[in-house]
Amino acid sequence: RYTHSMRTICLPAPGHEPLAQRLANLLTVEQGSVDTRRFPDGETYLRIASDVKNAQVVVCASLAAPDGQLASLIFLAQTARELGALSVGLVAPYLAYMRQDIRFKPGEAVSARLFAGLLSDTFDWLLTVDPHLHRIAALADVFRIPATRVPAAPFIASWIRTNIPSPVIIGPDVESEQWGREISSLADAPCLVLEKRRLGDHEVVVQGTLPDLSGKTPVLIDDIISSGQTMANTARLLLAAGASPPVCVAVHALFAPGATDALRMAGAARVVTCNTVQHATNAIDVLPGIAAELPAILKGIATTY
Ligand code: R5P
Repeated sequence: RYTHSMRTICLPAPGHEPLAQRLANLLTVEQGSVDTRRFPDGETYLRIASDVKNAQVVVCASLAAPDGQLASLIFLAQTARELGALSVGLVAPYLAYMRQDIRFKPGEAVSARLFAGLLSDTFDWLLTVDPHLHRIAALADVFRIPATRVPAAPFIASWIRTNIPSPVIIGPDVESEQWGREISSLADAPCLVLEKRRLGDHEVVVQGTLPDLSGKTPVLIDDIISSGQTMANTARLLLAAGASPPVCVAVHALFAPGATDALRMAGAARVVTCNTVQHATNAIDVLPGIAAELPAILKGIATTY
């Protein structure tokens, strides 16, 4: 259990009050309150209603749909500093924009680097769950502040062990291999990684040679469900090969419009996600993993005061 040598306060970014409340409870620290509304023209009004002077501030905000949140995140962090906060960090269970990690076409914004730069200018540290690290190997390659990754694999593996008989872990593409292999070893289940080609935002092709999966429950593992096409096409491939309807498990439930229908129509038996982004499919609680990491981060940052 965290013993507080300094006052710590969890401040919710607008809409993330349940996250701040849960983390404050898990850490047994204070939950702060923030008043916010839109001015008639749509601009953001924000007021920190708690005393943050001489406190370590933990801003809580999952970053699905990040564009509409940016102004309030910057206002919140900067206002906390102006009011005398000792440090201002960000707990973002889902970290947005990590998939555009290179310039695929001339002139494109490499938003992973730009977004990480913006957060580095705004906060003193960052904590997130399984960021999409692919061509960027580590958070430290793009963040100029201490940035920590909490793995969801132990929580997903434990859910699979409890809920799924005879699981076979299936990663739809090489990017999912990092999560698939870790979960497979923790859940003591075999693992298979397929190949994916993305042809467009809503178009992917998944291929691979499948072994005989009779008597097994295929468990598709990926970090993100966005359009749902990666999972849906993997499910179709499995069903066409005679496998049982798969269980789809993802860390981050982004669910772009149409994703739920795509997964249902593809024949998924069940769709389950971690609670990094609030969604009806949340069934795996990873917030204790965040709470377990926070005391060390706060202790580390306190040595810099
Ligand atoms: C990308 O490579 C990720 O790991 C996911 O596979 C991808 O973001 C899923 O997106 P969608 O649901 O749109 O297929």
